[in-house]
Amino acid sequence: MRKKVITGNWKMNNDLGETQNLISKLINGLSNETLSCDVIICPPFTSLQEAGLLIKNTPIKLGAQNMHQEGNGAYTGEISAGMLKNVGCEYVILGHSERRTIFGEKDELINLKIKKALESELKPIFCVGETLEEREKDATTKVVERQITVGLKNISSDEIKNLIIAYEPVWAIGTGRTATPEQAQEVHAYIRLLINRLFDVQTAENLVIQYGGSVKPDNAGELLSQKDIDGALVGGACLKADSFIGIIRSA
Ligand code: PGA
Repeated sequence: MRKKVITGNWKMNNDLGETQNLISKLINGLSNETLSCDVIICPPFTSLQEAGLLIKNTPIKLGAQNMHQEGNGAYTGEISAGMLKNVGCEYVILGHSERRTIFGEKDELINLKIKKALESELKPIFCVGETLEEREKDATTKVVERQITVGLKNISSDEIKNLIIAYEPVWAIGTGRTATPEQAQEVHAYIRLLINRLFDVQTAENLVIQYGGSVKPDNAGELLSQKDIDGALVGGACLKADSFIGIIRSA
């Protein structure tokens, strides 16, 4: 049985004060729950250290939203895997569609970042997903196959144990338009099949595949009950403690 994983991607939201406020509400709200899923929050870089201190001794885990593919050096404005580890990160989101579309990140670059993260003992949350145009052209599986095949090039099945894949159809992100549970399940099953083909059956069976794209407390239950949906990557709804806790409860 795969344990469900709920990740909150804060994106470019919350300064230090707002970080303290949201985390204290989360900790309070979850204090009487026995969590049967893993919970990860991914604040912006400037809040990571504070968030790491606040969630110490709680079940909440820390992740970052991006990192550079090199260990250190003259890369103005960038953040390394080692720096993220140093402030308590265990996870890092890589290949998010906003990084791909707004910042021009390509599959090959994402592959380098995934390799660096794994080498640095950070667990990648590797995002894939098609645009509306690609879905309408019936290219969903082709696109996801390319993103995964290139993104996971030269990575061993042993390393995949420390990686999560998040399927996020681009047309569902921040739009309020969620994939139906059937649409999502279909792609998740395909991803598991692909991992079986690229690696082996055990690696595919153990892989956590999150769904992302307008996940809310009222649609999370049905999505998470699908056979191959092992969690959620939540954007908008993770910025309010109540709605994020609602999603955690559905898991
Ligand atoms: P959303 O974002 O929940 O606001 O659609 C999801 C994501 O981008 O990870």
